[in-house]
Amino acid sequence: MTFDRSLKIAPSILSADFADFGREIRAVEDQGANWIHVDVMDGHFVPNLTFGPPAVKAFRRHVTTFMDVHLMIAPVDPYIEAYADAGADLLTAHVEAGPHIHRTLQAIRGNGMKAGVALNPGTPAEAVAHVLDICDLVCVMTVNPGFGGQSFIDMTAKVRQLRTMIGDRPVHIEIDGGVTPETAPLVREAGADVLVAGSAVFSGGSVETPAPYGENIRAIRLSCDTLV
Ligand code: DX5
Ligand code: ZN
Repeated sequence: MTFDRSLKIAPSILSADFADFGREIRAVEDQGANWIHVDVMDGHFVPNLTFGPPAVKAFRRHVTTFMDVHLMIAPVDPYIEAYADAGADLLTAHVEAGPHIHRTLQAIRGNGMKAGVALNPGTPAEAVAHVLDICDLVCVMTVNPGFGGQSFIDMTAKVRQLRTMIGDRPVHIEIDGGVTPETAPLVREAGADVLVAGSAVFSGGSVETPAPYGENIRAIRLSCDTLV
């Protein structure tokens, strides 16, 4: 079977109503989300704090697609088992979070999850050159992690370089931060297949009025469809 490089939109629930995660997840899935992106922040690796394993386990009950958990925490290794138990399909750790990304990725896979590795904007593509055979996804941050709603930092050249480095390996390229219908085609054209979008998906809608979520998802998708 050929590897799925079709476009996948992954709404980040960082932009959802924090008092209503279950219904928000179901609403964006009904409106066409392919994956659900869950941003875990520790107030240490990044200057913001969100939620931990028990909350992620509660989200899991509402996710019918694919739960993509993005850890912005350091250290990572002591928590891997807890996120496996919480039901993460894919667990992403930052290459900057510690000295042993290779061991971390092995441990994520060893706990039965797909393994992702994220790169901050200031980190070169080469930092993941020796882990491409033991990961399932490379996440290219197009903002400095910590908050939703920031402006896109153009990492198109890095995405293009990673696409070449990955070659035929079954590894996704995910973009996280500032994705809109204006910026999505740039990274899609460079080789990305998973686009995380928080504010651009959740703006204008609510669980009571979810249609804008669908319109926002379709607008991102359509902006990429015009590519040859
Ligand atoms: C940033 C998070 C992102 C963020 C994206 O630290 O990792 O997933 O929620 O939000 P937008 O799409 O609003 O930039
Ligand atoms: Zn994220």
